[in-house]
Amino acid sequence: AIPVIIDCDTGVDDALALLLAVRHPGLDLRAVTCVAGNTDVDGVVRNTLTVLERAGAPDIPVARGAERPLIEPARPARHVHGSDGMGDLGLPAPTRAPAAVDAVTLLHREILASPRPVTLIPTAPLTNIALLLRTHPEVTRNIERIVFMGGAVATGNATPVAEFNVWHDPEAAAILLTAGVPVTMYGLDVFMRVVVPGTEVHRLRASTDPGTRLAGELLAHRPTTQGGPPEAEEAGGLGDAGAVCAVADPGGITTRRLPVEVCLAPGAARGQTIVDRRPRPGESEIHEGTREQALVDVALEVDVERYVKLYLETVERP
Ligand code: BDR
Ligand code: CA
Repeated sequence: AIPVIIDCDTGVDDALALLLAVRHPGLDLRAVTCVAGNTDVDGVVRNTLTVLERAGAPDIPVARGAERPLIEPARPARHVHGSDGMGDLGLPAPTRAPAAVDAVTLLHREILASPRPVTLIPTAPLTNIALLLRTHPEVTRNIERIVFMGGAVATGNATPVAEFNVWHDPEAAAILLTAGVPVTMYGLDVFMRVVVPGTEVHRLRASTDPGTRLAGELLAHRPTTQGGPPEAEEAGGLGDAGAVCAVADPGGITTRRLPVEVCLAPGAARGQTIVDRRPRPGESEIHEGTREQALVDVALEVDVERYVKLYLETVERP
């Protein structure tokens, strides 16, 4: 199994990602680290611990990380994820506490301790990852790849051009992209497209397995259709869980290696991921003397049916 660590801001769709990673036989979820994003970091820790208990994985180490971005104050997205950051489903409080060490320390320890290089899956603002890369740069020798949910080639969500995770901590995203580690960007362009049909969500919600049922409740909280029969209303996007699909089954996305730069300037474009899709150097003279941008494997296409099937088969696994 591929050793993976998820860094998240649970988060309705982060919870969907955790459920998938716990149950997928091809993935070995070695730790989960928490960062401020969708809600405050203590809320993220609580939600994460609760989800792992529901998923039947109460032993995976969980650590608390940054409570705010590198430079700016935190700007939670409670309008999307509810006042508790996870859909206000009335879930119980967790029965255990997080690890005694902070997220950067846990990431450092688990990455270097892994017998095989680790794939990091950040599904949140990149503050913890940036702090890790700056504090312990030697971790890169045991990182296989970083597959992050964030950024957008086209339209943003937090602003017209910026995706939430990058917008929340643009400097951290820039540090990640230029760290010299292979990076896959699972951005909004593919993120928005992977939607589970309402009838399937309805079935998950009726399951007797607590983890499967939770997946159904979370998906139903991510409405993507309007009108039609009640079941159709329950259709919901996989969101961050798509980034986990991209690790478990990389053939489901089509990527292109492209220069990506995060806009750090104050103003309307701050947090935008500027993806250079012009013809590459050698193909055109426009690129003579090109700037030092990070080359990133950007997901441009996704096989929606394939990832929906992967998700359903995995979370319905007993
Ligand atoms: C990202 O922001 C959060 O609201 C989601 O969990 C996802 O990681 C989408 O922009
Ligand atoms: Ca998230």
